[in-house]
Amino acid sequence: MKIICVANQKGGIGKSTLITVLAGALAADYGYRVLVVDADSQQTLAGVRLTNDQPSVDLEREAGTLAEPAFPYALESVGMGQVYDRLDEISDDYDVVFIDVPGRSDDTAMIDVLSGANVVLVPVGASDAERLATISFMQLLQEISRLSREQGLDFQFFGVHSHRTNLKEEKDMDEFTDALGLPRLQASLRQLGCYKRLSTRYSYLNPAYRRAVGADASVEAEVRALCDELIARAGLTAELVS
Ligand SMILES: Nc1ncnc2c1ncn2[C@@H]1O[C@H](COP(=O)(O)OP(=O)(O)OP(=O)(O)O)[C@@H](O)[C@H]1O
Ligand SMILES: [Mg+2]
Repeated sequence: MKIICVANQKGGIGKSTLITVLAGALAADYGYRVLVVDADSQQTLAGVRLTNDQPSVDLEREAGTLAEPAFPYALESVGMGQVYDRLDEISDDYDVVFIDVPGRSDDTAMIDVLSGANVVLVPVGASDAERLATISFMQLLQEISRLSREQGLDFQFFGVHSHRTNLKEEKDMDEFTDALGLPRLQASLRQLGCYKRLSTRYSYLNPAYRRAVGADASVEAEVRALCDELIARAGLTAELVS
């Protein structure tokens, strides 16, 4: 089981969105047994499952243009201090676990959750405020990485660019991340309206869902590239075989 935590020391940077994109595709299309742990007291993802993802609120489903598959992955609300007690109980049931954590991250519970992960994905934004938050968060991750190496633990972290809108911004952000020494995924998520629709039921690799949220074919390629790279970098291939 690989544990993937999506975190940054900044609220509203796209953590929960990135989890729904990855978890939906890995579970519904790649066949992984996925669990999403919502450890953020805002309960964004747990809330989406209880409200938006109910049949009565989706116009396309009401109109009968979008079938309603079963939820492709499990989703549990767990307090920050209880995450690993819970994962110890269920580790045989899942191939990959995503943990959604709060936006601010300076307490010990956050350090414990990050330290126990195999991969930390850090959504990186383009604004100065987002960059400053990423710089201080990076120092924490580098320290955890150093300690994990000493203890022989499987720990990696990667920046994921999630708010790019044009080529100049892409180049700037790549240079910023590289100068920081933050390893980054080559794949990224563009800033697009279709990602503003949060769903814990549908995958962006589902053509009917893409049509319903106004996503074109380039979204399929983008999401697939992100999943493929995460699978390769996190060593998830072995998980699926086992
Ligand atoms: N790739 C994207 N394209 C368009 N909008 C996005 C994208 N990623 C995130 N957003 C939007 O940015 C806002 C914040 O995203 P999200 O809730 O995922 O961030 P977060 O880091 O989980 O926030 P919080 O710290 O409050 O939990 C939301 O309105 C979301 O729809
Ligand atoms: Mg969130």
